Amino acid sequence: MSSEIYINIKGLVNVRANSAILRGTAMSELPVIENAYLVIEDGIIAGFGTMEELRKSTINIKNATNISGQWVLPAWCDSHTHLVFSGSREEEFVDKIKGKTYSEIAANGGGILHSAKRIANISEDALFNQSWKRLIEVSKLGTGAIEIKSGYGLSVENELKMLRVIKKLKERSNLVIKSTFLGAHTFPVALKDNHEEYIRQIIEEMLPVIGREMLADFVDVFCEDGFFSPAETESICKAAAGYGLKPKLHVNQINSIGGIEAGIKTDALSLDHLETLTQKDIKQLSTFKGICTLLPTAAFFLRLPFQPARTLIDSGCGVALASDYNPGSSPSGNMNFVVSLSCIQMRMLPEEAINAATINGAYAMEAGSETGSITPGKKANLIFTNKIPSLAYIPYKFGNNSIDQVMINGQFI
Ligand code: NIG
Ligand code: FE
Repeated sequence: MSSEIYINIKGLVNVRANSAILRGTAMSELPVIENAYLVIEDGIIAGFGTMEELRKSTINIKNATNISGQWVLPAWCDSHTHLVFSGSREEEFVDKIKGKTYSEIAANGGGILHSAKRIANISEDALFNQSWKRLIEVSKLGTGAIEIKSGYGLSVENELKMLRVIKKLKERSNLVIKSTFLGAHTFPVALKDNHEEYIRQIIEEMLPVIGREMLADFVDVFCEDGFFSPAETESICKAAAGYGLKPKLHVNQINSIGGIEAGIKTDALSLDHLETLTQKDIKQLSTFKGICTLLPTAAFFLRLPFQPARTLIDSGCGVALASDYNPGSSPSGNMNFVVSLSCIQMRMLPEEAINAATINGAYAMEAGSETGSITPGKKANLIFTNKIPSLAYIPYKFGNNSIDQVMINGQFI
């Protein structure tokens, strides 16, 4: 058995004997043990306490690593990404600077359809290699658990290609990885006026293979004007439920068209984006049993209004933060910047933001029993910070990752 002990930790952050989703006022409670020690056995969190308690114990500290001045946090849990994609889309970025909107670019065959063309023309191996590089990149930025969606395939063959790449990432990586089937991201060009046929393909041709080969943990639909209606969203989610896939949905990014209701009816695990909310939407979300996942870097990049995090938290919601890493609306998977932006632009408190990016993010991808807090028995997927004065310093020092080292399964990467 391998056993390591870290001592003189300035603060051991998000320490919880038992963990659960945090909602409303509970989100601002971030338990920290100051001047702490931490024991890791075989990659699992085995024990912790104050240095005072350590001195009184019989624990052998001969080979302990002294990390005085450093904080230890759970690694980021990024519960909404599109990390598997091919190539970048900076031409559209420039078009947006010149005044085109996201919807206009999409209507002209850009956006998701642009990435779909690239997926059709790339081999599974080459797609894996590009995606692997991104996974390494985000793990160095502190991400220890990540959800990844398909959605740039838009045909049986290419959706399965994406999902098989995600499966291979799961097999080869030590990160906690969850897979989401997002065949309903948009309609393929050939079926843009035949929604029924594409939805039939999703339900009758894609889902059975996904179920048989266990290629996804969740299902997602882009419920938006010009994309999938709430009724279409519901029928896809109901079919996916037959294969054990819970919905994690793109709703209310640009318009409020009933996506939240569709999500509640189909027992969604999370409702994501939520830039555009009516009073009625907020009321419905206040009793929603799942998680509201906010993606501030997508709002930032598309110049959309930021999500009303304060209103949601003050209404009792459980909020998670995620990067939405994708080539069109958030070409960055840097969770440190997500956390900063949530504090700066959405007025989340640093404690709320850290909870949203760790424990609630873990629950938003059903990984709450494995990661997201410093809890005995959870994986040692951890961030060791630089010597920084306080926790608020992490979001305050935006654009600068206050990370010294990242640990995955007890190993520094
Ligand atoms: O979450 N809005 C839908 N899907 C992605 C963007 C996809 C793209 O533009 O490639 C999102 O923002
Ligand atoms: Fe997204």
